[in-house]
Amino acid sequence: MVRRKLTPRALLLLLALAGGGAVAQPPLPEAGQDIHEGVASCATSVCHGKGSPDPESTVWLNEYRIWLRQDYHSRAYRTLQTAQSEAIATKLGLPSAQGAKICLDCHADNVQPEARGRRFQISDGVGCEACHGGSGRWLESHAEVGTSHADNLAKGMYPTEDPLARARLCLSCHLGTKDKFATHKIMGAGHPRLAFELETFTVNQPAHYEVDADYKERKPWIPSVNMWLAGLAVTGMHTLELLQEDWFTRPSLVPELSFFQCHSCHHPMDDLRYVREPDGLPPGAVRLNDASLAVLLAVLEVTDPSTVDALRRDLTALHQASLQSREQVVAAARALHARLAPLAERLSQAQYGPEQQRELRRELLNQAAAQRFRHFTAAEQVFLAVETLSLSLGDAARLEGQLDRLFATVEDENDFVPQQFAVLSRQMLGAL
Ligand code: HEC
Ligand code: HEC
Ligand code: HEC
Ligand code: HEC
Repeated sequence: MVRRKLTPRALLLLLALAGGGAVAQPPLPEAGQDIHEGVASCATSVCHGKGSPDPESTVWLNEYRIWLRQDYHSRAYRTLQTAQSEAIATKLGLPSAQGAKICLDCHADNVQPEARGRRFQISDGVGCEACHGGSGRWLESHAEVGTSHADNLAKGMYPTEDPLARARLCLSCHLGTKDKFATHKIMGAGHPRLAFELETFTVNQPAHYEVDADYKERKPWIPSVNMWLAGLAVTGMHTLELLQEDWFTRPSLVPELSFFQCHSCHHPMDDLRYVREPDGLPPGAVRLNDASLAVLLAVLEVTDPSTVDALRRDLTALHQASLQSREQVVAAARALHARLAPLAERLSQAQYGPEQQRELRRELLNQAAAQRFRHFTAAEQVFLAVETLSLSLGDAARLEGQLDRLFATVEDENDFVPQQFAVLSRQMLGAL
């Protein structure tokens, strides 16, 4: 089933996640030392460029065709030629979008010149190696008989199968890193708001692989609920990490606004929304975007209730710090990150049976009905979570009408009415 789209317009499990920020992770493809040989090196008809899946092979071998014809990533560079991109570039004072590093860093595999192989072409956009890692050391060997996935990983292939590592990879462009970021300036010039949820985006990227029997022999199979939770935890941590970077800490009169709820500012003035929430922010405060953390807290109410009080206290401290100073935000983000880090692996690896999945869905909808998710980006994450859980539980078809109506309340962020979302959440609870 194709998932509803956001904003239609517009063994690496050893990741040492414990500890405050010092995280041993595989380097992102863009940051590795390996040569990126270019899509042309993957695309020949004896490699990944076949016309249809090869029944003899463990992998399909038509991955290039799928990427080229169906995957948005293959057009990411071309997007920089559109009128919309041109307008963005002009407003930013850039000679062109296709020549601008800030655009290419996310819309292409923009590695350093010395990391580009003979067949590398920037115009390939987000090509194979932007996700699978520079193939300099494994291009020859990975197709040889007897080569294991572990051999490939040891030679610099990126562990896209690992949910936490995958989340970091996708978020590097779908949220940003310390080196590249979709700032409010870029948004102000007309770039779409970036929204991300790992399971939904995994499903929405046209699959060029199949999780079949031989896949499961070679790689772990991750149930959708675990993928969702891995994404939620990593998005929360990634956001807290970015809050400690120059994007946020740099002194200026107005802080980097894309860390905040867009609709704190962008909503009509006669639509008075303020209510005092448990975090105690006063009227008129600009609220940090804590969507994934807010949803994560609701999840933990079900899975690890003993962790919730401390996390909620830390999150409140973060919001309170945002009224004070950047230094206090950084300290609060670091503290919350340290508390969250040990939970990420557990959340992504635990087994969630149908009863617990039902409980998770009920908790999310209950909190939504009680207007605990009053901010658009959190409501959006709640919808996607409820949809993921319903698909996993197998009752999404029966609940189709309810899901459609709930989706309608978050479909257009400019029309979001918190009370409507609460009312529809209550109706959906009634239909479970
Ligand atoms: C190197 C940067 C980069 C990485 C890494 C990346 N993406 Fe993207 N992604 C983009 C860009 C840029 C677009 C927009 C392309 C366009 O429309 O021109 C995009 C678009 C998409 C879309 C379509 C958007 C929509 O609204 O439906 C999906 C789905 C998606 N990416 C999923 C993923 C997933 C899943 C991962 C991780 C496995 C990932 N992406 C990793 C840059 C990236
Ligand atoms: C931090 C990464 C990042 C940066 C920097 C970035 N983009 Fe994007 N851009 C994305 C992603 C991811 C998407 C897809 C969003 C989605 O659909 O969820 C996107 C979408 C777009 C779209 C809409 C594409 C469509 O099909 O609707 C345009 C146009 C665009 N970007 C242009 C630019 C330009 C021009 C720049 C440079 C000024 C730029 N982007 C910088 C990540 C980035
Ligand atoms: C936006 C990220 C992204 C891009 C771009 C991308 N892939 Fe993938 N690829 C993935 C993910 C995610 C998986 C599934 C997880 C896994 O098995 O590692 C995957 C899986 C695969 C697999 C493994 C299938 C299996 O059964 O083990 C092959 C082969 C593959 N991709 C080849 C390619 C080729 C060739 C290209 C370029 C034409 C490409 N990919 C582009 C993200 C990407
Ligand atoms: C603290 C308040 C604040 C927050 C938070 C904020 N913005 Fe803005 N935004 C502004 C101001 C001020 C302007 C410039 C004045 C204007 O054009 O309305 C602006 C301008 C814009 C514009 C251009 C409007 C135009 O008419 O040219 C866009 C698009 C935009 N913001 C998107 C976003 C997105 C997306 C987010 C969240 C990621 C966001 N904003 C968060 C205050 C905010």
